[in-house]
Amino acid sequence: MPTWRIAVLPGDGVGVEVTPEAVKVLKTVGRGARVGFEFAEALVGGAAIDALGEPLPPATLTLCEQSHAILFGAVGGPRLDRAPHEKRPERGLLALRKEFDLYANLRPARCFPMLVDASPLKRSVVEGTDLMVIRELTGGLYFGEPRGVERFADGGARAINTMAYTSREVERIARIGFEVARKRRRRLTSVDKVNVLVVSQLWREVVTRVGQEYPDVTLDHILVDNCAMALVRRPTQFDTIVTENTFGDILSDEAAILAGSMGMLPSASLGGSVGLYEPVHGTAPDIAGRGLVNPIGAILSASMMVRHLGNTEMANAIEGAVESAIRARQCTRDIGGDLSTSQAGDAIVKRLGD
Ligand code: NAD
Ligand code: IPM
Ligand code: MN
Repeated sequence: MPTWRIAVLPGDGVGVEVTPEAVKVLKTVGRGARVGFEFAEALVGGAAIDALGEPLPPATLTLCEQSHAILFGAVGGPRLDRAPHEKRPERGLLALRKEFDLYANLRPARCFPMLVDASPLKRSVVEGTDLMVIRELTGGLYFGEPRGVERFADGGARAINTMAYTSREVERIARIGFEVARKRRRRLTSVDKVNVLVVSQLWREVVTRVGQEYPDVTLDHILVDNCAMALVRRPTQFDTIVTENTFGDILSDEAAILAGSMGMLPSASLGGSVGLYEPVHGTAPDIAGRGLVNPIGAILSASMMVRHLGNTEMANAIEGAVESAIRARQCTRDIGGDLSTSQAGDAIVKRLGD
């Protein structure tokens, strides 16, 4: 029986509330299947800074290197917001993405039929939404050089971030875009800001060139500001979206509202030898510690994990259990139920046991 070693990194805030629910689900679905799990937990983010003085301690990195996959919660929070950038909790996550070359971040957003009314948007707008945001994750504005702050003698300052891409970086994420679109509805929308940014000119040129290898996929290009508008006007026009790191960060939070709640969106970060799976949401300081947070984003991330590790059956079982729990309103408040985080996890676990 194969055993998958999973590095569990709950992090901070609601990360520590949702991650155990995903582990619980994996343990249940693994039981009886011909796959075993070995879970090992490690510190990351603010929790790691508090205990060991850095957001990604060497022991955590080593554990991740020795694992088949990383199950991640969330990092950050108001307490460490004033720390210098290298000592911020978020650095731990960014360093993991870079370390494992996780350049492709897949963020599916689907409006489950029973959640059409959970979205603040009209039923006629969100009904049938089923899209995938592919966010480039190790380049662009997040990592470009130069970056930093220059302080002047007169008390003024100048801060720099750089949006930079090589053609190789665009080419590999474009390829992922076309491959994913090919398995969906064969439509890829590349999002850029070509009317202003030279980076976008290269992006568009390379995506178009790669597209010639995928004649079965329809490619179109859209400006990011127009895309933000179109996502809430007619989300059903989108199938697969591929875009720059920052654009993808912003657009995927917007897409979460099409799915009913920030708590619904899972993600997979792929590229290197070890994949990282995490909900799209953050540490939700406004609701942390009260058992209110929706664990489904984390649980569906676990489902993406087993799917990418090669077990479709387990992934389908988790997704089926999630849908069934939502249908029965056995879920948290944000999507119309009245259960606590762990009760919502239990409702999904119970359906897997049946
Ligand atoms: P957030 O995603 O944490 O929260 C945004 C809103 O969505 C809040 O109102 C929150 O209550 C709600 N929400 C989030 N997750 C939810 C869930 N599972 N169920 C129900 N409601 C949910 O974004 P923020 O408030 O802008 O960021 C808070 C902190 O989290 C910041 O420090 C930020 O850097 C960090 N963050 C971390 C990650 C990550 O680790 N991947 C992602 C995003 C933000
Ligand atoms: C996300 C988060 C992260 C990002 C933060 C926590 C660094 O917002 O995963 O969407 O900006 O990529
Ligand atoms: Mn984000």
